[in-house]
Amino acid sequence: MIPITKPYITETDIAAVTDVLKTGMLVQGENVLALEQYVGEYLGNSHVVAVSNGTATMHIMLKVNGISAGDEVIVPAFSYIATANVVELVGATPIFVDINLETFNIDISKIEEKITPKTKAILSVHEFGLAANIEAIQAICTKHNLVFLEDAACALGAEYNGSKTGTFGQSASFSLHPRKAITSGEGGLIVSGDKAFIEKCKILRNHGVNPVAGHTGFTEAGFNYRMTDFQAALVLSQFKRFQEILDAKQAIAKQFLAEIKNSKLTLPKVEEGYYHSWQSFHIILNGISQVEAIAKLKEAGIAANYGAQCIPHMDFYKNKYNFNAAELFPNAFNAWQNGLVIPLYPQLNNNEIEHIIHSINQL
Ligand SMILES: Cc1ncc(COP(=O)(O)O)c(C=O)c1O
Repeated sequence: MIPITKPYITETDIAAVTDVLKTGMLVQGENVLALEQYVGEYLGNSHVVAVSNGTATMHIMLKVNGISAGDEVIVPAFSYIATANVVELVGATPIFVDINLETFNIDISKIEEKITPKTKAILSVHEFGLAANIEAIQAICTKHNLVFLEDAACALGAEYNGSKTGTFGQSASFSLHPRKAITSGEGGLIVSGDKAFIEKCKILRNHGVNPVAGHTGFTEAGFNYRMTDFQAALVLSQFKRFQEILDAKQAIAKQFLAEIKNSKLTLPKVEEGYYHSWQSFHIILNGISQVEAIAKLKEAGIAANYGAQCIPHMDFYKNKYNFNAAELFPNAFNAWQNGLVIPLYPQLNNNEIEHIIHSINQL
């Protein structure tokens, strides 16, 4: 079975982990610090906090921004559910906006009608590794005095107009889950150009310990969202060949775009100025059901699955807010119901790539 993705871990990566294990220093330490510095330089002029996963990142970002009960945060209706869950976790209300069906990102023409005096932030997703409409979101945030937060969980390495995702908002979040291009098993990175903001994130990551206060200096009721040092060593080792990983994904995506030809589906589009990091290759089925396509591909030895949730249609949100998601968020509903993610990872060989293309053309 060809999986949807496969972590790309080499002997060098494994050695980097075992080296740390042999030291006996397993919790957050010098490798976490080294990873934070490396990512800060990679993104350019960014400060970084490594944490335990990509949901913890956003939980901390919202907390440090003071977002709480009574506040509203705008989120896309189609994303991984964590994007909305973190808003609920701080007691605020996620305000869903439908997506654009060509980019799978928030539909910027539908944001302003959702803004109220309670709106504090836009938590925008770069879905599947394609940057959202950065300039439009920045303009709306400036006009309405909102904080622009990037959920860049899927978009490490993606770019818009030559700048990397994670550098556009007040702060941004990356996930290092194994579905992503580089992984620590579980892990996440908060990045920001604002050093003081990142210092506050560090306090919340570690039980509220303020490193500049005295020994009673637990100045916040913080979390334990730390990353272990061997996880940081694993990520750092993969990061050193990150461009090679991105290039390999890019080449496969290019081949898919050129050679998948089937009138029962629509391929993803990448507009001028965008560098897609291809965390996932997501197609929309329009002449065959998702269930049937998944079953046919399974028969051919190829794993495939839906791409992300129509979040307002998931039980918690449907029950709490009484949404009729199919009517309110038709594009998100369509993407959830008819979207399909197919395998794309650097270790795919030519035979496998051709088999995937052939099998999808046969759907
Ligand atoms: C858009 C988006 N946001 C948030 C997350 C949550 O990241 P994690 O699984 O590392 O908590 C994911 C994970 O897939 C995601 O795709």
